[in-house]
Amino acid sequence: MTDNEQEHPGGDDTQPEPTAEQLAEMDRDQLVRLGTNLDGVQIEEYPDPWPVKGTKAEKRAERLISTWFVVSAIAGLAFVVALIWWPWRYKYPGTDGHFLYTLYTPVLGVTLGVAILALAIGIILYTKKFIPHEVAVQQRHDGQSSEVDRSTIVAQLADAGNRSTIARRSAIKRSAGLGAGVLGLGAVALPVASFIKDPWNNEAEEDSLASTGWRKQSADETVYLRRNTGDPEEISLVRPEDLDAGALETVFPYRESEKDDPKALLEALRRADNPVMLFRLRPEDTANVQERKGQEDFHYGSYYAYTKICSHVGCPVSLYEQRKNVVLCPCHQSQFDVLSYCKPVFGPATRALAQLPITVNEEGYFVARHDFVEAVGPGYWERRS
Ligand code: FES
Repeated sequence: MTDNEQEHPGGDDTQPEPTAEQLAEMDRDQLVRLGTNLDGVQIEEYPDPWPVKGTKAEKRAERLISTWFVVSAIAGLAFVVALIWWPWRYKYPGTDGHFLYTLYTPVLGVTLGVAILALAIGIILYTKKFIPHEVAVQQRHDGQSSEVDRSTIVAQLADAGNRSTIARRSAIKRSAGLGAGVLGLGAVALPVASFIKDPWNNEAEEDSLASTGWRKQSADETVYLRRNTGDPEEISLVRPEDLDAGALETVFPYRESEKDDPKALLEALRRADNPVMLFRLRPEDTANVQERKGQEDFHYGSYYAYTKICSHVGCPVSLYEQRKNVVLCPCHQSQFDVLSYCKPVFGPATRALAQLPITVNEEGYFVARHDFVEAVGPGYWERRS
């Protein structure tokens, strides 16, 4: 027995394997027959799914499958459009556009889900309706596939494709290509969209991730520091003499334009990134203060204001250890050094608390000079440490 005539494991032992030249001369039908014989496969039934060509039922099945692929393409396209152009900038509850903003993630999920689902349904329907469902019996055998196995399996796959009549079903081919192509476009759009949507390109300056309630709405607007007395409509402004040395007071923004607007007054107390800790350092500590570069004039005398929102994951920092001049976040025990621009000295937080620039106006009240110069709260892109 030569190498080419060795017995095929699990197949027809009486039939020698053909040579490479013989294989090359065989057509696909012969290769299919050879493959089934060598594998010990016996095809019991090999029915043509559509023995009578061009029936209404066949055309209906073709249209149904094409429809699913077109639905997949439309949903995929909708996903790409929504990914890039849906109003994705954060809108504060109660403001225009908040509802649309809240729909951003659901819309992405629904469009992508429908695109994948419709494509899958189209493929399943095509398999059920056009791929021949033969009944075959094969003896199981182990070992690596030989050259003959590889050649015959390719022929068998090509034969299955041929019998599925995909080659002449142009509507299905086109719609399937469209659906798969648009989904591929969606995969490409995911990283590309991040370059198109520039969070810093914010001419209206209304992006709440980059600004807070301390932002002046006009250049000459005054934003006061107020305390929360429990009654949102009771305006209690803060003056330097209100705080003892070593004291901490939580303050919120107040603007004259909101005086007769109970809703705005309440929102100013509720907005998550508004709370600020106002410290009055003890005289013996002021000499040890280390200012942050570029923020040397953000304080007023021994008064310093820092956001209350922890730079770890956003809990309210509130426990003030006056003797050690540290504030503690109760969530994960991060500690921030008040004498060193509230930089973290312990715990998981890695960024300093954002500092609010303050001064005292001619009436003697604390006011914010402008908004924070960086985003408050947890990790944020392009934020300084
Ligand atoms: S949120 Fe403050 S330490 Fe984790």
